[in-house]
Amino acid sequence: MVKTITGSMTLAEVVTEVPKSGDILRELHIDFVNGGNRKLVDAAFEQGVPLENILYEINELDTENTDGIDIKYMDELSIIKYIQRRYHEDLRDELPVLAPYVEKVAEMNPDLEEAGEIFRSLKKSMMDHSEEEDVNVFPLLESYIESPTESKKEALKPRVEKTRNEHKDVTDFFFRLREVTNDFTPYEGAPGVLRLVYDRLERLERDTLDHIHLENNILFPRLKEKV
Ligand SMILES: [Fe+2]
Ligand SMILES: [Fe+2]
Repeated sequence: MVKTITGSMTLAEVVTEVPKSGDILRELHIDFVNGGNRKLVDAAFEQGVPLENILYEINELDTENTDGIDIKYMDELSIIKYIQRRYHEDLRDELPVLAPYVEKVAEMNPDLEEAGEIFRSLKKSMMDHSEEEDVNVFPLLESYIESPTESKKEALKPRVEKTRNEHKDVTDFFFRLREVTNDFTPYEGAPGVLRLVYDRLERLERDTLDHIHLENNILFPRLKEKV
């Protein structure tokens, strides 16, 4: 049965129930991936947006994610595999391809110099971060899920903490990128290459926040319950 979203639910609960609500929250500049414990009513108030409007829009959405999958019924190992295939591999494909286009746009337009700098930082941090998860954090998590021990739990703690901090940095970069690109809105008469870059950057933002939501709001809290 579809749960009705209410203002007293946390942002993490809202986006877990209705993944596409992330699109609405992103556009309202509401951080649901790092501030997942905040209640929707408080986040709406802080942004000065009427709660009823947000609730109306969210409750109109279906409960599948953008790939038509309902993550909350998946077990932890499947979630890890899904994250790696759907997001980490995609980043490795997309970032190097997108980079020259962003550079070109930043060169053409002095107003977008900062956007170019933010993208370069994002590219580096996201590549390093995903690599660290694939090589260190996730294998340790998998081993912990298969046979939880106190020592594995202790080894995981600082890594999860570092991972969460990096998520915050990446999210901040995207929020800033949204500001300097006027919410990824091309100016009138903008060339095709700029439209393409804004489109792909916004898609990257959507995928990245969905990706971090899975890690911060679903995967890590579930492991905590295991202990
Ligand atoms: Fe990840
Ligand atoms: Fe991550």
